Amino acid sequence: MTHKIIIDTDPGIDDAMAIFFAFQSPEIEVLGLTTVYGNIPVSMSARNALTLCDIAGRQDVPVTKGVALPWVGPESEYAHFVHGDDGFGNIDYPPSTREVDPRSSAEFIVEMARKYPGEITLVAIGPLGNIALALRLEPELPKLVKGISIMGGAAFVPGNVTPVAEANIWNDAYAADIVFSADWEVKMFGLDVTLFAPTDPAFVDILAEKNPVMGGFMQKAAQFYIDFYSQNRDEKVCFFHDAFPIAHLVKPELFEFTRGNIRISTDELNRGQTVVAPVGTTASPLWTEAQFVQAATGVKHEELFQLFIDTYAR
Ligand code: RIB
Ligand code: CA
Repeated sequence: MTHKIIIDTDPGIDDAMAIFFAFQSPEIEVLGLTTVYGNIPVSMSARNALTLCDIAGRQDVPVTKGVALPWVGPESEYAHFVHGDDGFGNIDYPPSTREVDPRSSAEFIVEMARKYPGEITLVAIGPLGNIALALRLEPELPKLVKGISIMGGAAFVPGNVTPVAEANIWNDAYAADIVFSADWEVKMFGLDVTLFAPTDPAFVDILAEKNPVMGGFMQKAAQFYIDFYSQNRDEKVCFFHDAFPIAHLVKPELFEFTRGNIRISTDELNRGQTVVAPVGTTASPLWTEAQFVQAATGVKHEELFQLFIDTYAR
C-alpha cells in the first residue's frame, strides 16, 4: 500500500534522517515538506528542507514555509545547541538555490487535503503550529485526511526539555492542545518509544556505507547531534526520533499503542505536558470528556533500525 504523506518539519538532524527515509521508502509518496520553526527559525527550516530535496534528487517535492512563532507567547528559544547553528551540525553545506513554494504550510496542507480527500496522512515532526492553523483554515480537515501521526509528547515518561514536556509540544503547547483536541485520534510517537531505542553512532556509518549520498550527509551532519546526546554518558549514543512515525506507516507491526484520553498542559510549570489517561483508569471528566490519542508505548527497535538500514540501502 502506498501512503500519501505531508511531512511537517523543522529540519534538524533527526528530521533529515526521517525525510531521507521517507524518500527512500517505496511505500511512501511525499506530497510536500511543510516547514515550521522549532529546532531552528522557520526561514532556516525552509532552506534546509530545500537542501534535503536537492541532496535526494527530489526537487519535484514542494517545500513551503510555515509559522514562525508559537500560538501564544514569545519567539521560541531554538535548539541550535542540539542541531548546530545551521540545523545540520555546522557542516556548512551549501544552501539550495531554489525558492520555497508560494503557499504557506497551512494553506498547502488544506489544499492537498481537499485535492486528495481521505488519502493523506499528516506526519508532523516539529511543533504543531501549522497543523493548528490548518485546522482553523479548514475545520473539516480531520474528515479530509486519512490520519495524523506525530513525533512528540511523553505519555508515561519524563520530558526532554522540562521534567514533564517533550520539545515539539513544549515549543507550542497551545497549538498542540488545538491539534490533540480536534476530531481525530492522533498517533503520538513520543519519548516513550524514541528515547528507549538508542542508536549506536556506528549506525550513521552504516547509512553512509549503504547510501553514500543521503547516508553520507547524515554521517557528517549527525556528529554534532551525537556529541550533544553523548554528554555525561560513558558511551556515544544518538536518537533519531522523527523517523518513528514514518516507519510505522511502512511496518506498523513494529509498534504497540496505548489508547487513552489526552490533555495538554499550557500553564507555566507544566507547559507542554501530554497527560494521557489510559482508557478506564480515571472517572475524571477532565479526561473522560477529552479526545482520545493512540500513544506508542512499544517498539521492536532492532527490527526498526534494520528497516532504516535496508531502506537507505535501496
Ligand atoms: O524531542 C525531539 C523532537 O524535537 C524532534 O522532532 C527533534 O527534531 C525536535 O524537533
Ligand atoms: Ca523535528
